[in-house]
Amino acid sequence: MSSPPPGAGAAAARDGAARDGAVEDLRATVGLQIEDEELLRAVAGGLADVEAMLRDVVKSDVQAVHDAALHLVEAGGKRFRPLFTLLSAQFGPKQGEHVLIAAAAVELVHLATLYHDDVMDEATMRRGAESVNARWDNTVAILTGDFLFAHASRLVADLGTDAARIIAETFGELVTGQMRETVGPGPGDDPVEHYLTVIAQKTGSLIATSGRFGGMMSGAPEEYIQALCRFGELIGTAFQISDDIIDIASPSDELGKVQGTDLREGVRTLPMLYALADPATDPRLVELLAGPITEDALVEEALELLRSSHGLERARVTLSDYASRARAELAALPASPARDACESVADYLVARTH
Ligand code: IPE
Ligand code: IPE
Ligand code: MG
Ligand code: MG
Repeated sequence: MSSPPPGAGAAAARDGAARDGAVEDLRATVGLQIEDEELLRAVAGGLADVEAMLRDVVKSDVQAVHDAALHLVEAGGKRFRPLFTLLSAQFGPKQGEHVLIAAAAVELVHLATLYHDDVMDEATMRRGAESVNARWDNTVAILTGDFLFAHASRLVADLGTDAARIIAETFGELVTGQMRETVGPGPGDDPVEHYLTVIAQKTGSLIATSGRFGGMMSGAPEEYIQALCRFGELIGTAFQISDDIIDIASPSDELGKVQGTDLREGVRTLPMLYALADPATDPRLVELLAGPITEDALVEEALELLRSSHGLERARVTLSDYASRARAELAALPASPARDACESVADYLVARTH
């Protein structure tokens, strides 16, 4: 038997530390709780492989493409979608390359949409770094988003025609949600219903597909795949509601994005819609929410008024409702550390808004 090379023990300790670090980050950012050592190893190892794939994919001979594509990969992010793919893959018997490719692909699609979203929202910060549209310009951001989506499609092509169709449909749905948000509710539409449809499409759809892919690529039974998909759509919707709440309620230095971007763009999120529907809301807030707000001082004033409005509290109730509905879907899955981990995320999304 050959002895391990010198330094192997130290390398293993380093790997272990990196592994625990990745999961520790996820505990802080998405409330992930994993007690089971085997699951911890699988998830942390999978995430490290996904990370390497992401860096590999963004390579380009054209320096400008490479720099702009790597920019947001390196800026970090929660990696929630690949995490959910890896957790979902625990419900099937097969682990391996296809699960990892699927996990990398859903993060790339997400990343592509962030490049485009920051152009649409005229955002200047993303993941605690300068957004690509601000650092370079809109053209670079749009083309880099397209580049990332092209590579996501290339990866998914290796997963079979079903997966290729599903990711294409998901992207179509996501873009439709973004378009619906841009157009706004029609004259006869209920604004809250409109908002909930928008976020299920723009955010829920890709998180649903992340779970579906994990189930499919691991060979899980169809009923588990369906449950993961439904859980993903509901948890994704809850995720967006909680994001919209903390955009108002949290100190701006914790967001990694510029606070109040929706107010500046005239996009009404759930706490705003509920505040507008409440006759007791301060008329000054109603006035401020009438359209896009351009001045910093007025954004700050609107945020202050929103923080003390009933809209924020009512949005928390809706969030809890989505998180409960998501949790209920987990009943179709076998009790396991992976199911507990999914549940911990559902609990956290509610807890992080308080
Ligand atoms: C940002 O998604 C867009 C929303 C759906 C709210 P994330 O909050 O998952 O962003 P990253 O990947 O951690 O940067
Ligand atoms: C993020 O939407 C983009 C998608 C979900 C496609 P938002 O505009 O609501 O999210 P942030 O606040 O910029 O991350
Ligand atoms: Mg945005
Ligand atoms: Mg947006």
